[in-house]
Amino acid sequence: MKAITIIPGKPNSAAVQDVPEPDASEGSVLVRALELGICGTDFELISAEYGWPPKGRDYLILGHESLGVVEQAPNGGSFKAGDLVVGIVRHPDPVPCVACAVGEWDMCRNGEYTERGIKERNGFGSERWRTQPEFAVKLDSNLRDVGVLMEPTTILAKAWDHITRIGERAKWQPKTVLVTGAGPIGLIAALMGKQRGLDVHVLDVVKEGLKPELVKTLGGTYHTDSIEKVGFRPDVIIECTGVAPVIAGAMAILGNDGILCLAGVSSHNQKETLDLGTINRTMVLENSVIFGTVNANRHHYEMAEEALLKSDRTWLSRLISRRVPLSDFHEALHRRPDDIKVVIEFAKN
Ligand code: BGC
Repeated sequence: MKAITIIPGKPNSAAVQDVPEPDASEGSVLVRALELGICGTDFELISAEYGWPPKGRDYLILGHESLGVVEQAPNGGSFKAGDLVVGIVRHPDPVPCVACAVGEWDMCRNGEYTERGIKERNGFGSERWRTQPEFAVKLDSNLRDVGVLMEPTTILAKAWDHITRIGERAKWQPKTVLVTGAGPIGLIAALMGKQRGLDVHVLDVVKEGLKPELVKTLGGTYHTDSIEKVGFRPDVIIECTGVAPVIAGAMAILGNDGILCLAGVSSHNQKETLDLGTINRTMVLENSVIFGTVNANRHHYEMAEEALLKSDRTWLSRLISRRVPLSDFHEALHRRPDDIKVVIEFAKN
């Protein structure tokens, strides 16, 4: 079967090649791939800044934003042929740590977790893939057209889950959220902010086109000036750019009792001069919280499905700016200025 592979550690090694069918040891549920979303992590993997092959192998099958259809599953189990499914990315560490032991692998304490298509476990970028039933999530068949957005949505489901838990440390009635970065992660963060009844603001450098239009259609306010000029002090900020001056600006404008959620992975070597004394003083005197978030556990997949089901399907489907057949996968790996989410199509149905 065909798969998109990379050689971790070797820049620009992405290729479509013939690989053996997935081994039965990878799980009892056999899935036929429909679509695969491409994200910033994949670009980091391709440029060899990140990524590890499965033990004893030199290549890694790419892909962690999956959508597929079950081809075979054990009789009497929770899946049957024809079910629409998404694979869970992270698998718990083998020890397991206290978090992994209770299914909170997104909070793994010892870093020995594995991730499909990222860390020591083949991804979903092959014509067929296998999984254990406990690492697959059945999707409502109505989500066929946007189901590939499920995995990125889980990342924001976790972010909002943790923002809410932190907020509830005291009486909390947030009114405003600022999202920095209007890529797929930022736009889904904004969507989920709207679903929580908040006044949503999104900041990005792109001045026209689909990004501002999508924010406007959502009922949000779009900003393109520097973060210091948004003109209000947000109750919640979800930072999705990973850009140092934006992060510093977010820390400076956060409102009292505010929560700054860092959801964008920064590139290295971004030096920024900060006055830690003032930051500490402000954070203490204003009860601020800054926290980071990564990955998602099964509960967040459930939250994500709910969020997708209740959102406007036309709006959501516009996040997928390009679908590219597997045979042209190089096209998908070439970023265009108007891209939001690019999806590789393995099969039409
Ligand atoms: C994925 C997460 C993963 C993270 C770090 C992200 O792109 O969506 O599932 O945990 O990368 O590897």
